[in-house]
Amino acid sequence: MRIGHISDLHILAIDRIRPWEYLNKRMVGGLNLLLNRSKAHSTSVVERALEALDSLNVDHIVISGDLTNLALDSEFAAAAEIIRSIESAFSRVSVVPGNHDYYTPGAASSGRFERHFKEYLKSDLPEYQLERGYPFCHLREDVAIIGLNSGIATPWLFATGRVDDDELEQAARMLDDERLKSRFKIVVVHHPLMADEHHRFNFNRRMINAESVLTTLRQKNVDLILHGHNHYLSVLQVPKLGEAGTTFVCEAGSTSVEGGGPKMAGKFNIYTIDDSQLVEIETHLFESHASGFRPFRSEVFRRHIEEERG
Ligand SMILES: [Fe+2]
Ligand SMILES: [Fe+2]
Repeated sequence: MRIGHISDLHILAIDRIRPWEYLNKRMVGGLNLLLNRSKAHSTSVVERALEALDSLNVDHIVISGDLTNLALDSEFAAAAEIIRSIESAFSRVSVVPGNHDYYTPGAASSGRFERHFKEYLKSDLPEYQLERGYPFCHLREDVAIIGLNSGIATPWLFATGRVDDDELEQAARMLDDERLKSRFKIVVVHHPLMADEHHRFNFNRRMINAESVLTTLRQKNVDLILHGHNHYLSVLQVPKLGEAGTTFVCEAGSTSVEGGGPKMAGKFNIYTIDDSQLVEIETHLFESHASGFRPFRSEVFRRHIEEERG
């Protein structure tokens, strides 16, 4: 099975914004953000990524949050329209919110994200879902994809996140469920759970309870954690805590960035899972509107190489 991973789309819908939607909120921050992001993030780059994923025979697509900038209805509508263009989107897409999708207390409490993306939050194990819809689980072939919500409304200049304790408890129970036992287990959550060499846990951008979330997921032998937020390609590995083996922790980067060279330009990952094992991680990079995305990096894991050698 091949899983595509896109993230941090930060879809703009400036033409659809009515000033009263944001002028009374974080006017300066909001306007600044839109002006800066309109230069960096491009909807057409996301469309090229979806075309590329289609031609690369991806079975399922995961979106790890920050679909919008200011969590406006108009931005959610534009993002939902793009995602609906994916063939059989309702059964082939898993999506979780990021801090930008919960940008204001109003957006967070109104359940705006959940309303726009409710079809993608339908769970195959609904008995574990809390009122908001998390954690949800998508069972596809030999893979289980579990969505967690780390979005919280934050004070100005903060982009922190948190997975609620009761949500984490439900996820832990779900991960013990017999129906997940022999499956490859993927958890999707917006905020990073580990610091990498380029990103320390900045106080105002971190997941507040990252340590306990990561420990729980390692104890429950999660195979792959997919996140966004740093807008930076990252592939990390830590030992599982409940059995022998590895928990991979991966970010593709922001998919919609138009320029900025290989470090910053738009990216997506593809994870190939065979016989409930991760055998390859590919990263594709946006080059230009003329050539679209091209293969950038690939890592094939040992077990697969050994089998190839026979
Ligand atoms: Fe982001
Ligand atoms: Fe974020």
